[in-house]
Amino acid sequence: MSEDLKQFSILRSEALKRIDSSKVFLVGSGKGGVGKSIVSSLVALELASRGTKVGLLDADVHGSSVPTILGVNKVISVGRMGFHPIEFESVKIMSLGLITEDEVVPLRGERKSGVIAWLLSMTNWGDLDYLVVDLPPGTGDEVLSTLRLTDGLVRRSLAVSTPSAVAIRVARKYVSLMREEKVDVIGVINMAYSLDGTSSLFGEAEDLGVSKVFRLPIDPGVEEFIRGVRSWRDLSSDMLKGVREIVDELISI
Ligand SMILES: Nc1ncnc2c1ncn2[C@@H]1O[C@H](COP(=O)(O)OP(=O)(O)OP(=O)(O)O)[C@@H](O)[C@H]1O
Ligand SMILES: [Mg+2]
Repeated sequence: MSEDLKQFSILRSEALKRIDSSKVFLVGSGKGGVGKSIVSSLVALELASRGTKVGLLDADVHGSSVPTILGVNKVISVGRMGFHPIEFESVKIMSLGLITEDEVVPLRGERKSGVIAWLLSMTNWGDLDYLVVDLPPGTGDEVLSTLRLTDGLVRRSLAVSTPSAVAIRVARKYVSLMREEKVDVIGVINMAYSLDGTSSLFGEAEDLGVSKVFRLPIDPGVEEFIRGVRSWRDLSSDMLKGVREIVDELISI
C-alpha cells in the first residue's frame, strides 16, 4: 500500500469515528454554478431550525463558498479534540476556506482527497444527527473521496440541476455515479425554474431516473441573504416552501 493510501485509510477510520451516527446528505450535480452551495446551506439551516444537530462540510476545496454564503469569516481554531467548527445558527461548519481564507491553495489528485479526509477526521463535530456535504462541480477527486470516506454510513443525495439540457446531461452522470456507489438519490432539485412555467424540469426528471422533483425558484433575495442584508427566513415563500419539502423528505428516513 502506498504511503498516501495508508494515510488515507487511517484518516478514514478516524473520520468514521467522528461522524459515526450521522446521516449523510450529499448535495451534488456534476454541473457548476447551479446552486449546490445555496441548497446545502439552506437545507442545513432548515434542519438545524427543527432542532436537529447538523454539520455542514464544504467539500469544495478550490471554490469554497459556504463561508461567503453564511457570512462566516472567523478562522477555525484548533483544540485538544481537533478543529472547532464555526457555528452559524447552530450549524457546525467546516471548510478549507475557514483555514486558508483568501489564499490560493494549489492542490491536485491525491492531495485533494487528503484534504477532504483531513477536514472530516480532524474536526470536532460532536454528536451529529446529519452531515450535509456541499460537493464541488464535477465527479472528480473530492466527490470520490467523500464517497470513500462515508462508505458504510446512511447516505442520501440530492442532485441539483437547472432546467437547461446542458445541466441535465451532466446531472445524469452524477446520478449514475451515486447509484453505482449505492447512494440513494432522493430527488432532483429544479433550481431556478421560472414562475411562468416556461422552464421546468418535469419530464427530464424521469429521464434522470429520479422520481421526485423539488422546485426552487429564482429569488433575488438569495443575493441579499448572501450579502447579509436579509435573513434566510425572509426569502420568498416559494423558496422556503421548496427547502422545507426537501428537508421533510430528508428526515423521513
Ligand atoms: N434560487 C436562486 N435564486 C437566485 N440566485 C440563485 C439561486 N440559486 C443560486 N443562485 C445564485 O447563483 C450563484 C451560484 O450558486 P451556488 O454558488 O450555490 O452554485 P454552485 O452549484 O454551488 O456553484 P459551484 O459549482 O461553483 O460550487 C450564486 O451567486 C447564487 O447566489
Ligand atoms: Mg458550490
